[in-house]
Amino acid sequence: MNIDPVDIERKITPKTKAIVVVHMAGFPADMDSIMSIAQKHNLKVIEDACHGPLSEYKGKKLGTIGDAGCFSFFSNKNISTGEGGMLITNNEDMAKRARLLRSHGMTTMSYQRAKGHATAYDIMEVGYNYRIDDIRASIAIVQLQKLLPDLQKRAEIRQKYVEGLSLIKGIVVPFADNTEFVSNYIMPVVLVNSIKEHRDIVREQLHMAGIQTSIHYPAIHKFSAYKDYGAQLPITEYVTDNEFTLPMFASLRDDEIRYIIANVKSIVK
Ligand SMILES: Cc1ncc(COP(=O)(O)O)c(C=O)c1O
Repeated sequence: MNIDPVDIERKITPKTKAIVVVHMAGFPADMDSIMSIAQKHNLKVIEDACHGPLSEYKGKKLGTIGDAGCFSFFSNKNISTGEGGMLITNNEDMAKRARLLRSHGMTTMSYQRAKGHATAYDIMEVGYNYRIDDIRASIAIVQLQKLLPDLQKRAEIRQKYVEGLSLIKGIVVPFADNTEFVSNYIMPVVLVNSIKEHRDIVREQLHMAGIQTSIHYPAIHKFSAYKDYGAQLPITEYVTDNEFTLPMFASLRDDEIRYIIANVKSIVK
């Protein structure tokens, strides 16, 4: 997705240390622009690739372009261990510090001590319990093996959706011109010339036809925790008020896709 470099640079202050990029729905952000802004201002880049395991940007996997990449294994993600996640980095210092902080700032883990590789530990700084446990990690390894075939099916499903939905006036399919291999974590659409109430009625009618939809996401600046900052973001508000996501999973059948598209068409009309 293209970004406006001027808009990003406007938000950089002397206190800014890093740019955090969210690869929304698994589609790559404009990493060339982001990396060059980061270089110019000496900032780290953290890629939130939670929606995009194995998604690519110009042949590189998301999460491997910036200084660090983050992945979520929450229950609704492409890989799930119920809860948990992963941080990746090629930066030795960052990796070392992350390993330290994930386990209460301790220099050795219980496992190393139990195996006799270490007998003592020091606490270097106050850390956290951010460890993924061994049971979840083993589930993740098995899930990882199933990921590529799952994503390949999702790519076929998305193509059918894009073909069908692009014929419907009143609907925009975000990232429709994407040519990269992506995870298709979700299937978002945005209603044109709409208002929130209209979107909610469309969702309700789809629900009555047995089609589950969701919203990804409500605008952050409208949540109670952030609303006192008084942010004015009209484009974000339009998109978040008029977006909804259609069913997207690898076993979605052709007849189901056709049924969903036909319902969207008749309801939006
Ligand atoms: C883009 C994105 N980043 C981060 C997270 C947080 O992941 P977790 O709940 O595993 O910490 C989510 C979770 O839904 C997400 O969608």
